[in-house]
Amino acid sequence: MAAIAADLQQAGLWLTESKRVAALTGAGISAESGVPTFRGKDGLWQGFKATDLATPQAFARDPKLVWNFYNWRRELLAPLQPNPAHKALIRLEEKIPQFSLITQNIDDLHRRAGSKNLVELHGNIWMVRCTRCHLVSRNEEVPLPELPACEECGGLLRPHVVWFGEQLDPTILDKAVAAIRSCDIMLVIGTSALVQPAASLAIVAKEQGARVVEINLEPTPYSHKLDLALQGKAGVLLPQLVERLE
Ligand SMILES: NC(=O)c1ccc[n+]([C@@H]2O[C@H](COP(=O)([O-])OP(=O)(O)OC[C@H]3O[C@@H](n4cnc5c(N)ncnc54)[C@H](O)[C@@H]3O)[C@@H](O)[C@H]2O)c1
Ligand SMILES: [Zn+2]
Repeated sequence: MAAIAADLQQAGLWLTESKRVAALTGAGISAESGVPTFRGKDGLWQGFKATDLATPQAFARDPKLVWNFYNWRRELLAPLQPNPAHKALIRLEEKIPQFSLITQNIDDLHRRAGSKNLVELHGNIWMVRCTRCHLVSRNEEVPLPELPACEECGGLLRPHVVWFGEQLDPTILDKAVAAIRSCDIMLVIGTSALVQPAASLAIVAKEQGARVVEINLEPTPYSHKLDLALQGKAGVLLPQLVERLE
């Protein structure tokens, strides 16, 4: 416990000295809100692995099945609320002159918490995109029809999320990279650092001279390359860290 307190103190000091802060969050920050992760036993839905359904191939083969899966996820996510970790990032955004929040999550919890400068790398589960005219819109209907149609052109809608095997939107990725390239310190919170290119963002930050502090329940493949790796729950550690700036 003493070691964690000293690490929090150190990270707090670095944050106090920083004008530009970037944070990268993953599924772990939402775990305490009750969002299931894709890995482990929580990742199964009707015997399918989530990682086999969130693909363009699965959607081309059986769009009803994929929409069923997303309807189930939308139902699950609709009542969930931001937790103390999401809220701590709001307070941090208020204190830091230039703060960027980059998330791999599609669960909308950062937005619901009130984050302003937010880059959603993998899209958002409440956004849909037309496969014909490519119109993107927000849609909070739960459940959507089995094969939802575009209001403009009648084309088949798909979730506006980045599926396994798909490229990230280059404009969005550029925004994330720009924030990382110019930050004094980066916080990496609740991500296993297995999914690219998000995983390499911490390395970009290190290479340009920023400090990188990780908050995770367990060590990740990158922990040893970073300045500090704080082990524990994001919902506990992040509020304690931000408190040190108050
Ligand atoms: N919430 C969501 O929107 C959501 C949920 C599941 C998966 N996904 C998608 O799946 C991919 C998963 O990659 P990922 O790296 O984000 O998640 P991941 O599931 O690979 O890793 C989660 C990480 O969070 C850590 N963790 C778990 N609980 C924590 C807690 N309470 N506090 C701190 N750390 C905690 C784990 O140790 C792990 O390293 C992403 O592409 C993401 O878009 C998103
Ligand atoms: Zn359309």
